[in-house]
Amino acid sequence: MIESEEKYTVTAALPYANGPIHIGHLAGVYIPADIYSRYLRAVGKDVIFICGSDEHGVAISIKAKIENKTPKDVIDKYDSMIRDAFKKFDISFDNYSRTSKKIHHETASDFFKNLNKKNIFIEKESKQLFDKEAKQFLADRFVKGVCPICNNDEAYGDQCESCGSSLSANELINPKSTISNSKPILKKTKHWYLPLNKYEKFLTDWILKNHKKDWKINVYGQVKSWIDNGLKERAVTRDLDWGIPVPIKDVGGKVLYVWFDAPIGYISSTKEWAKNNGKDWEPYWKSNKTKLIHFIGKDNIVFHCIIFPVILKESYDFILPYNVPANEFLNLEGKKISTSKNWAVWLHEYLIELPGREDLLRYVLTSNAPETKDNDFTWKEFQARNNNELVSIYGNFVNRVLVLINKYFEGKVPSPNNLNKKDLKTLKLINEFPEKIGKKIEEFKFREASQILINLSRLGNKYLAEEEPWKLIKNNIKKVQNILFVGLQIVAALSILSEPFLPFSSKKLKSLLGISNSKIKWNDLISAKEIIKPNHLIEKSELLFKKIEDDEIDYQIKKLNKKPIIKL
Ligand code: 2FM
Ligand code: ZN
Repeated sequence: MIESEEKYTVTAALPYANGPIHIGHLAGVYIPADIYSRYLRAVGKDVIFICGSDEHGVAISIKAKIENKTPKDVIDKYDSMIRDAFKKFDISFDNYSRTSKKIHHETASDFFKNLNKKNIFIEKESKQLFDKEAKQFLADRFVKGVCPICNNDEAYGDQCESCGSSLSANELINPKSTISNSKPILKKTKHWYLPLNKYEKFLTDWILKNHKKDWKINVYGQVKSWIDNGLKERAVTRDLDWGIPVPIKDVGGKVLYVWFDAPIGYISSTKEWAKNNGKDWEPYWKSNKTKLIHFIGKDNIVFHCIIFPVILKESYDFILPYNVPANEFLNLEGKKISTSKNWAVWLHEYLIELPGREDLLRYVLTSNAPETKDNDFTWKEFQARNNNELVSIYGNFVNRVLVLINKYFEGKVPSPNNLNKKDLKTLKLINEFPEKIGKKIEEFKFREASQILINLSRLGNKYLAEEEPWKLIKNNIKKVQNILFVGLQIVAALSILSEPFLPFSSKKLKSLLGISNSKIKWNDLISAKEIIKPNHLIEKSELLFKKIEDDEIDYQIKKLNKKPIIKL
């Protein structure tokens, strides 16, 4: 599709609606995706940020069994919890949908029917693992066993979480049913397979030859190793009772594999957004001017870089991802985050226990994001980042400028006169920050971007400390005017440039500055001589960030080590 306008379709992995979300999800996927989308909007791009709940698959059926509920009860409960957490952390989705919706069932079924009509699938009968006690075929998480690649004995029927390999249940060594713990037998059944092996050249040409430089090393490396190890055909249907029914006449009791339908969820969510907003969804998925970016965790790489692109390629006119900036994993206090062991910081609990600290968590998870390797979240670092960076550097600088302008000039922005070399140089330096931060965001280096933002407030602190306006107030008011004028321009730049990272504080700061309705944009800062004009009235200063005391941190560490079972 030829479109004149550049567009961005940003997707964030659809979380399974089988449990609440924790800091690992936020750090790995939703915060980077949100920073990226907010930044694109700030620089005036046409962007949609798409997500939704992943409501099919064995993970949901298992949870329903554990909670003695229906799968529908499970997805309703967790979809609403997940939505609420995203809303409270201000993850700025343009649309958050659900894969249980009609629009998604129809869209995924159409994809399947279309591929089936084009004879893309291989349809065949084979022997599959079957649990005699539960009277059920065992696919995906219904079966565990030893991974044939890395020997991990907790590998699932579709994936080994330890080495990241995508598996077929039949490949597991010593398989065991996770429903009855029994040893499965083999039973014949028919399925539809996507012959990935036929796409080796396509994937090699598209990714290995083209994206060595612009895709992250971890992503490129995983794709390469899958291709090097030989791609195999993968079943895209399952013998299960929960999911999207295989849309072929007389095929009963079979559903689409969750990883076939879930990524199509990005498309149905876009369709829903378009319908609700009177827009056309197609350019966001079919225009050659659109950049499609998938934010995911590393365990999702194969699905987004191999399986889904093959589906898109064979489905008429769809574009392929421009980039898939997958993150590694976040550990917690030195150990892997684990839902079953309750070793996690749950967002719904954080929101209750540390109210008003949403930006703080966003900041800590950004500045310590697992971008290139697995990383560790510790409560001590959380406290240190707050007290030493947000409070002492950023907040302190902002507060000093606002307090002094209120104290010396009754809140009226002072007029500059005869700015000296250093003042002018400082103002010029501000102009460099939008591009410096923007460049890092465009390269998916969010950690570095967040540190450049803090450096801007460092610059302000250093300037104030060197100029010491409080010592000049008695005999050089003109110079004090200049210093606080310059200082205030840095504060104003911070209020705009911090928006993607710290949306709550940015909003509050803009309101303290009285510029909530200002039309000044990110890119205007590249050349602006003054962001806030003299004589403009600012509000009374309020602290943006509060110190975290040791007892708050001790409470969290103790709580974690007690590992209480959460009753949700
Ligand atoms: O790993 C997961 O949590 C999956 N629910 C992610 C799905 S991403 C997409 F393809 F929908
Ligand atoms: Zn493995």
